[in-house]
Amino acid sequence: MEFADRQPIRISDVHDEGYAPGRYFARGWVKTHRRSKNVAFIELTDGTSVKGLQLVINPSLSSYLVAEAQIGTGAAIEVSGQLVPSPAKGQKFEFQVEEFSLVGSCDPETYPLQKKGHTLEFLREQLHLRPRSNTLGAVFRIRSAASFAVHKFFRDRNFIWVHTPIITTSDCEGAGEMFRVTTLDLSNPPRDDKGHIDFSQDFFKDEASLTVSGQLEAEIFALSHMNCYTFGPTFRSENSNTSRHLSEFWMIEPEMAFCDLRGDMKVAEDFVKEVVRSVLQECAADLEFLHAREWVEADTAKVLEQVSETRYGVMTYDEVINELQKSGRKFEYEPHWGADLQAEHERFITDEVVKGPTFVINYPKEIKAFYMRLNEDEKTVAAMDLLVPRLGEIIGGSQREEREAVLRSKIEANGMPPELYWWYLELRKFGGVPHAGFGLGFERLLMYLTGIQNIRDVIPFPRHPGYAKF
Ligand code: 4AD
Ligand code: MG
Repeated sequence: MEFADRQPIRISDVHDEGYAPGRYFARGWVKTHRRSKNVAFIELTDGTSVKGLQLVINPSLSSYLVAEAQIGTGAAIEVSGQLVPSPAKGQKFEFQVEEFSLVGSCDPETYPLQKKGHTLEFLREQLHLRPRSNTLGAVFRIRSAASFAVHKFFRDRNFIWVHTPIITTSDCEGAGEMFRVTTLDLSNPPRDDKGHIDFSQDFFKDEASLTVSGQLEAEIFALSHMNCYTFGPTFRSENSNTSRHLSEFWMIEPEMAFCDLRGDMKVAEDFVKEVVRSVLQECAADLEFLHAREWVEADTAKVLEQVSETRYGVMTYDEVINELQKSGRKFEYEPHWGADLQAEHERFITDEVVKGPTFVINYPKEIKAFYMRLNEDEKTVAAMDLLVPRLGEIIGGSQREEREAVLRSKIEANGMPPELYWWYLELRKFGGVPHAGFGLGFERLLMYLTGIQNIRDVIPFPRHPGYAKF
């Protein structure tokens, strides 16, 4: 019989009482193995649950005896036997093994993961093994469930999912934080008569980069399909070695036609609430496990309930600056009109002024991207950031500039070549309408859900300045 012919039980479903007692196969990896004279116990995991399945073995079972010395933590096994109600406390079922098979041994001398818990820092050096740890195992199940919740939210509202390009020739944020994509010989690139690198001889006959955002291309689809969204990897070469920044992260970017800033905020609030609610429901056991870790703030579960239920506050940038200035607080960065908000300012607003998630709107145009719609005061733009307690910015969005002349002058004022954005400008000429959208950093949302403090622990393969292993 081949592996594929045997249907193993799913351990998470066993805990949810999805199986009646009876004869089954079980397979997975050994978490712990201990034996006494008359009985041996193995805790088995199959990656579906923090809680393993308790295997009970008669040590004289010959298929067990031949393998016994090699059944250490991490070894892969398959067993058949009886699932029966357990007399032991803390578990409803146990599995009495009748046939034992060692599929892959695991050298206990060199296997880096031990029974005892490891620090997240240590696990970061074991990217190939850390999904097997309880903590990261739970995080990545939650990541998967949250991805589906994201798609479900948009599908239920008839947004189409657009696959925007990963290799691009436009800089959406205009911030020059792009990774170059080239096949030119770096030691001897072709040059034009001015001595500049001649990208017309490059693979794409153009200067190409990895995308920092799918927004500009998503706008194309909002103006054909009304409501759309992207969900994919984005890349930024900003040199931010912080616990909230990655060089490769996943972003969700909805874009809505016939929509203004109010409508944009409405979608954003509904979206965050529904994804949080859905993960709270679907990943209850994993969240409970994570929220009980010593490095998670004690009331994380309560804060999440709040995020999924209360109305979010709205403050203008002007009001925020006023609040900060009149607070009498000594900030590391003195708040003043025209400067970007620092994490300490954001935290003061969400944790002490509003005491909950807060949209900050109408930022000075100088500190925001070129595509945001200029307000009537001509000093601010129709931007919105959603700040959440503890974490700060989780969403950045805006109503887009739909007036061609205004947009053109903003592109020029930003020192960007308008001829590169000809198609973006044409969208304003050919049936352009007010439209708006936002971007949610998927890993920021996952930090919020899990209580994990470092963004490198919520993505399977983190990339950040100085690091791109695997
Ligand atoms: O505020 P940002 O830069 O906005 C945009 O990219 C717009 N084009 C979005 C839009 O309107 N369609 O980024 C959006 C969000 C941030 O709020 C943050 O959550 C996340 O993306 N983000 C990062 N997450 C991890 N690492 C980084 N380096 C990030 N930069 C932004
Ligand atoms: Mg932003």
